[in-house]
Amino acid sequence: MTSQSCPPADEPDTEVAVITGGASGFGLALAEQCARRGMRVALLDIDVDRARAEAEILSARHGIAVTAVDMDASSAASVDAAAATVADRYGRADLVVSNVGVQLFGAVERLTDQEWQWVLDVNVIGSARTARAFLPLLRSAPNGRLAFTTSSSVLDPAGRLGLYQAGKFAVWGLAETLRLELADQITVSVIFPSGMASRHLESSAAVQPAELRRPIGEPADFEAMAASNPGMVRAPVSPEQAAVDIVDEVLAGTRYIITHGDLDAAVRERSALLQDAAQRALSRTSTAESTRH
Ligand SMILES: NC(=O)c1ccc[n+]([C@@H]2O[C@H](COP(=O)([O-])OP(=O)(O)OC[C@H]3O[C@@H](n4cnc5c(N)ncnc54)[C@H](O)[C@@H]3O)[C@@H](O)[C@H]2O)c1
Repeated sequence: MTSQSCPPADEPDTEVAVITGGASGFGLALAEQCARRGMRVALLDIDVDRARAEAEILSARHGIAVTAVDMDASSAASVDAAAATVADRYGRADLVVSNVGVQLFGAVERLTDQEWQWVLDVNVIGSARTARAFLPLLRSAPNGRLAFTTSSSVLDPAGRLGLYQAGKFAVWGLAETLRLELADQITVSVIFPSGMASRHLESSAAVQPAELRRPIGEPADFEAMAASNPGMVRAPVSPEQAAVDIVDEVLAGTRYIITHGDLDAAVRERSALLQDAAQRALSRTSTAESTRH
């Protein structure tokens, strides 16, 4: 189940980073940043062959222990077993990034219940399973850090991404709740990456259940998405570029981390609309109170 690319490290004081979906793309780029900082790393992924190959490369490049762990985010038993493997191998976890996410495009009126169940099971319940399985290790760490990869599309959404965006909003909600439940023990960060040139569509297709098989996105979906939000398809960066400085922000316990891109207007517009709504609620509340008296 595990592959270690260098001899067991007897460095109990060295921090340990656990990255789910760590075999590729953004997860692997975060793992590289952790390795650069001298942390021992566990790459948890359903594509364990790729995780093993990348673990060997990272370990050789940085001279630190990197472990590949076979994990399917859609199985509680598999996530629990991955946490047990990390505990056996390293005896601790200081930083856990729940980063697995699959994609499936489609207009909301055409998505089936089974498609909703697949994506939400992996992306949302998978994140909750990961948090639950690793909390005992994080609680024993001197400075436990938990982070979730969501998407900048929750800050600036686009059409045809309803399933994916609903799931990423849910992961944000999960993180907000954990932040309150774990206050003073473990910091919780929400990472909002913008577009990255990764293997996301390919790796989503690789784990798509056989009975749901269809293209992850059709040309008409990409066109409709771009028409609804042209910024969404503008200038994707490499996962390595997106990951620069992100580990430092997670280690600092930063609550919200936007990796790159121009989200300024979208965030301002939504904040202003929410503030207006809150003001209107406040004036309705004061009117109701003054009528009562
Ligand atoms: N690529 C983008 O433009 C983009 C933008 C915003 C957010 N994100 C998010 O970033 C995260 C990483 O995506 P990426 O772009 O690096 O893609 P990626 O395909 O390079 O990496 C995803 C990894 O997750 C693994 N995986 C898939 N299903 C799994 C499962 N059930 N259990 C365990 N591992 C599983 C894959 O094998 C793969 O190694 C995802 O949550 C994604 O939604 C991506």
